[in-house]
Amino acid sequence: MSIALSSVWKVFTETKVKVEALKGVDLRIESGEFVVVLGPSGSGKSTLLNVTGGLDGVTEGEIRIADDVITAMSEKELMRFRRNRLGFVFQQYHLLSTLNVGENVETGAYGVKDSYPYSEVLRMVGLDGYEKKYPFELSGGEQQRVSIARALVKKPKILFCDEPTGALDEKTGKAILSLLKKLHEELSMTVVLVTHNASIAQIADRIIRMNSGYIVEDQRNEQKVSPDEIAWH
Ligand SMILES: Nc1ncnc2c1ncn2[C@@H]1O[C@H](COP(=O)(O)OP(=O)(O)O)[C@@H](O)[C@H]1O
Ligand SMILES: [Mg+2]
Repeated sequence: MSIALSSVWKVFTETKVKVEALKGVDLRIESGEFVVVLGPSGSGKSTLLNVTGGLDGVTEGEIRIADDVITAMSEKELMRFRRNRLGFVFQQYHLLSTLNVGENVETGAYGVKDSYPYSEVLRMVGLDGYEKKYPFELSGGEQQRVSIARALVKKPKILFCDEPTGALDEKTGKAILSLLKKLHEELSMTVVLVTHNASIAQIADRIIRMNSGYIVEDQRNEQKVSPDEIAWH
């Protein structure tokens, strides 16, 4: 599904000093693109991802996902929309420690009409046969695979990833990026990946640079490389 932001502002006012995290962002992402949003810490990347994914509201402006104006939805409508259409992967895996892998993945399918069987998504992420294991028995990379499986089980149209390799070493991080690229191709999803790591941006179809709440550059990536070829900084 395509994504369109027009004149999106996000101002945080709960803090002592008011923070303008997004300053009139205009952006269009086409269905099926693999986009990396790159920028230094504090530039507004997570805020962009959170408002675009309907996890947080905007202060001003409009966000459309395909034909739906998500900024006009009630909290309940938005929750249903998110649950059925959007997948999220974060730096922290947020797995439930008392549930096994299969059960953790199933939590992503809760209330979703058309979902994959958990065994199928576990196979997709390379964790065939892991369903009875518990999070504490897994490495960081394996836990991130479970969180990706949990995001995919609902057959999302868009996958949002916020620093998905931020807690991983180089080898494991590259393996996770390879997995995300493979899934993007196989499942024809739109993928929006946010990172401060310029090396990672090299794998994208398109690189959007942010600074101080603005999009400062937006370019097709002519020198796309595969995750195992990138130099990791
Ligand atoms: N919940 C919040 N309350 C107040 N300020 C916030 C909140 N979330 C983010 N910010 C501020 O908004 C700016 C952008 O933050 P963020 O989107 O997290 O940047 P990035 O992901 O690029 O590091 C920063 O100045 C940050 O401190
Ligand atoms: Mg962030």
